[in-house]
Amino acid sequence: MVILKSPSEIEKISQSNVIVAEILEILQQKVKPGSDTATLDKLSEELALARNASPAFKGYRGYPYSLCTSLNQQVVHGFPSKRLLKEGDILSMDFGIFYNGYYGDAAITVPVGKVSKVAERLMKATKKALHLGIEQAVPGKRLSDISHAIQSCVEAAGFSVVRKFVGHGIGKALHEDPQVPNYGEPGMGIRLKPGMVLAIEPMVNVGSYEVKTLEDGWTTVTKDGSLSAHFEHTIAVTEDGPVILSTTNGKA
Ligand code: MF3
Ligand code: CO
Repeated sequence: MVILKSPSEIEKISQSNVIVAEILEILQQKVKPGSDTATLDKLSEELALARNASPAFKGYRGYPYSLCTSLNQQVVHGFPSKRLLKEGDILSMDFGIFYNGYYGDAAITVPVGKVSKVAERLMKATKKALHLGIEQAVPGKRLSDISHAIQSCVEAAGFSVVRKFVGHGIGKALHEDPQVPNYGEPGMGIRLKPGMVLAIEPMVNVGSYEVKTLEDGWTTVTKDGSLSAHFEHTIAVTEDGPVILSTTNGKA
């Protein structure tokens, strides 16, 4: 069941997501050769608590950290570690909080120093696919119009979109209906309505879309070892079109 949100609820979900966006911005500035993701994890938690927010992922189905840090061929749900980041790595950071009754959730992939051409292209295509998906989040369109826009953009760039994980509704729960796949034929699924709040989150691989989860039960990597990127925004569907909530400046 899809829970529609009132304008005042959307305002609260916006507040949670602005906090997430602020924290991701601060974390991004700390990503450089020689830094480590365990430090970023600790910082993410401190920054959340300082804003009276609690980290949403820690303890969620047993996930042990506040931040998901997925490096290079890691797709999602990577564990923070003491290992040092090095020039040329790409790092996905996925962060969520609970604040004043509502969840915020967003992810970015950032370069560590100077990265390869293909890594640049991958990050750019994934971010573009997210934004083309968001553009489809208009009342009257259908859910899979978002999915199709994402897949088309990714495949036009010569990359592949992960099937195994999807975006989701968000609000008083981190994961609500509907599921938002990042691939599919257009014109299918539920009709989009004002008041829907969605976390849209394409995961894109340079090689095949197949992934596998490691023995830790969380870390998911590309099966072929190719690079992967992940961008996520929480957005609201309104009469006036999509509004990105996980932003600090009203933009991306
Ligand atoms: N953005 C991811 C999601 O919506 C992050 C979840 S990590 C978890 O599923 F640890 F909470 F599962
Ligand atoms: Co999410």
